[in-house]
Amino acid sequence: MFITFEGIEGSGKGTVIAGVREWLRSLPQGGPPLFCTREPGGSDLGRELRALLLDARRSIAPEAELFLYLADRAQHVRGHIRPALDAGTVVISDRYADSTIVYQGYGRGLDVEELFRLNVMAVGGLWPDLTLLMDLPPQTGLARARARNLREGLEVAEGRFEAENLAFHQRVRDGYLAWAGRHPGRFRIVDAAAPPKDVLASVKAALAEAFGLG
Ligand code: TYD
Repeated sequence: MFITFEGIEGSGKGTVIAGVREWLRSLPQGGPPLFCTREPGGSDLGRELRALLLDARRSIAPEAELFLYLADRAQHVRGHIRPALDAGTVVISDRYADSTIVYQGYGRGLDVEELFRLNVMAVGGLWPDLTLLMDLPPQTGLARARARNLREGLEVAEGRFEAENLAFHQRVRDGYLAWAGRHPGRFRIVDAAAPPKDVLASVKAALAEAFGLG
């Protein structure tokens, strides 16, 4: 089973994925075999691409940025995700193809249908069984991301996307909701502005249903 988490900056994907790992490990027999990964940067090649992509000082044309994300994903799928799924492992990825459609498409203004076709090629037809969209207003997400950066001693607007303006993040948030609305069978929308324990409870409920756990 292939599960992805999506959402704007500061939507709490990392915290929720850590909670899910702990929960699955606590299940009888230690839960299903699990591989948690992320994009960009889920492979050796991807880690180099990630450093290029997230360096806010570098100016990258939207089309060049697109192909770097697709290269990261193509390698990630073939080197890690596909082999893990073939071995019967549950794969959880923090971001996947929907991020490209939403950030490069709805956010940057590239053509969404074209992005979908390019993604089909990059992933060799592999789409998640379930995608959890951590939804919250961009003001709340950005405030959380900034607070995290300050805590970790990073610049307030660390990274290319955290430096983008509110209008960009609003387009991304609206884009996620529009895209999820086009794929209601695969997406579950989680209210990520709720208290953390409620967010984790909603995510666990969606996963329990997907895993067929009572
Ligand atoms: P990351 O530091 O992993 O942020 P987050 O914790 O929000 O996931 O940075 C990933 C950034 O890359 C994030 O701002 C979204 C962006 N991105 C795209 O624009 N397109 C993509 O296809 C992917 C995978 C990520």
